[in-house]
Amino acid sequence: MNFWETVLCASLASLLAIILGGLYAIGAFRKRKPKEPPLDKGLIPWLGHGITFKKTPFAFLTEMRKKHGDIFTCLVGGKYLHFVLDPCTYGPLTRESENKLDFHAFATIISGNIFDFQASKALDKVAKMNSKYLKGKELGALDHRLMEMLQTMMLRCQQHKEGEKSWQEDTLFHFSFKTIFQAAFLTLFGTEPQSQENIKERELKQCGEIFEMFLEFDRFVPQMAFGMLDPSGKEKAERLRNIFWDLLDVEKVYEKENISTWIVKQDQNLAEIGESDGIRTRIMFLFLWVSQVNTGPAVFWILAFLLKHPEAMKAVRDEVDRILREVGQEVKPGSPSINVSLDMMKTPLLDSAIQESLRLRVSPFLFRGVMQDTEVRMANGRVYILRKGDALVLSPFIALHMDPEIYPDPHAFKYDRFVNPDGTRKEFSKNGKTLRHSILPFGAGHSMCPGRYFAVNEMKIFVILMLTYFDMELVNPEEEIPPVKESSYGFGTLKPSCDMRFKYRLRF
Ligand code: HEM
Repeated sequence: MNFWETVLCASLASLLAIILGGLYAIGAFRKRKPKEPPLDKGLIPWLGHGITFKKTPFAFLTEMRKKHGDIFTCLVGGKYLHFVLDPCTYGPLTRESENKLDFHAFATIISGNIFDFQASKALDKVAKMNSKYLKGKELGALDHRLMEMLQTMMLRCQQHKEGEKSWQEDTLFHFSFKTIFQAAFLTLFGTEPQSQENIKERELKQCGEIFEMFLEFDRFVPQMAFGMLDPSGKEKAERLRNIFWDLLDVEKVYEKENISTWIVKQDQNLAEIGESDGIRTRIMFLFLWVSQVNTGPAVFWILAFLLKHPEAMKAVRDEVDRILREVGQEVKPGSPSINVSLDMMKTPLLDSAIQESLRLRVSPFLFRGVMQDTEVRMANGRVYILRKGDALVLSPFIALHMDPEIYPDPHAFKYDRFVNPDGTRKEFSKNGKTLRHSILPFGAGHSMCPGRYFAVNEMKIFVILMLTYFDMELVNPEEEIPPVKESSYGFGTLKPSCDMRFKYRLRF
């Protein structure tokens, strides 16, 4: 072999080694080991099932479940994801130690890709510590303030109309989301000085503009989360993010009054652990997003279901009217606005209707990084091993909410599904065993949503006020509830694929 032949052979050998090394690195040679879940790499190298999973996650998982059963591993964009769809494993898996299954690894990707900061364990600790400000006495204060805000806003619009009982038309998703967004924004992030009694016109207008930008930003979130935004989308998303950072700049936030303790304490703790103003502002925006993105669509769905099910609307309204009468808060023409604590509002039918709409329309994926080989024991007794370095994905929506054994006729809205005839909460079982948690719209275990009590109370207050003050109808009573936007599966509350028109007028 002459010199050049030797050089050529060496170059080809290096190239081959690089290609093989690359293929090895992206897992092209990965084989299923004993006790590991069925492996499905799809047909496209590296990408695997990435495109289908991103576009139609629900259809994809349903198909994979038919093919492989309740546990399987798929290649998705260079990463191996273990999907577990057996609800009996969810308790142990979500309580598993963070040394084995870590929520943090995934939170870091989200905070980095969407909010442009690196979530650290210290930040996570602060967040956990502050969940106490979304419970108990603090929660009561938030509810009270939200109720005041919502009433002022709902009734203020009416006073501008000629003849108090004329119908007004609007789009239900936009109306519901905007109304709860404005009220919750002012409740959590405070009001401009001296505007606590009277929400100023200008402030509401500004909140309305913030809401429109929020909606626009949120449209980019699924692609941002996967790091798959095209350059034009990236530019638009970054422009919006800059506007939010400016709006929620920590110094500006502190110029407000009546800021919720949750926001204040959170920020003070971050300052104490030495976080810069820039990071604290980014975290303000993260908090705005997490506190609003799921609740708006959730109040839309409960109202849409009630409008489409007159028997449910009547039963819930009768219940609300009766309780308000019992607590001396009946609304009549000229009566003062409602001032009642939710502890006094025992509304089992409304509570059940809210649970039912959360069951049907909240679909989070719960992600965990697999930090060391971890065993999963399935309901049938089989044990599988999740490989270190992969990720685990749980879908309570598919595994639990849509299980016909737990919920017969699972796609139907049955407003009283969660309540016994005596008003107590119904229990549900699987394989003959009572389930500790029969729905998991707020996640579970270490990363469970700290805002869950406030979220449910927001839904409750919103429905109580809408039903008390307004008659409501769909503009086209034949119109079906819109199907959900497929790409919103996995991000919490599902979004409708289009809006629907409704009309409302004062009842009294
Ligand atoms: C219907 C409304 C809501 C739904 C469906 C919802 C659902 C969720 C889910 C599924 C998670 C992630 C859980 C996990 O990965 O295991 C989460 C996290 C979070 N939610 Fe909510 N949420 C709602 C409303 C709220 C509200 C109103 C707030 C605050 C006021 C809030 C604050 C948070 C925070 C701070 C986190 C991050 C927790 C962490 O990093 O440990 N959420 N939420």
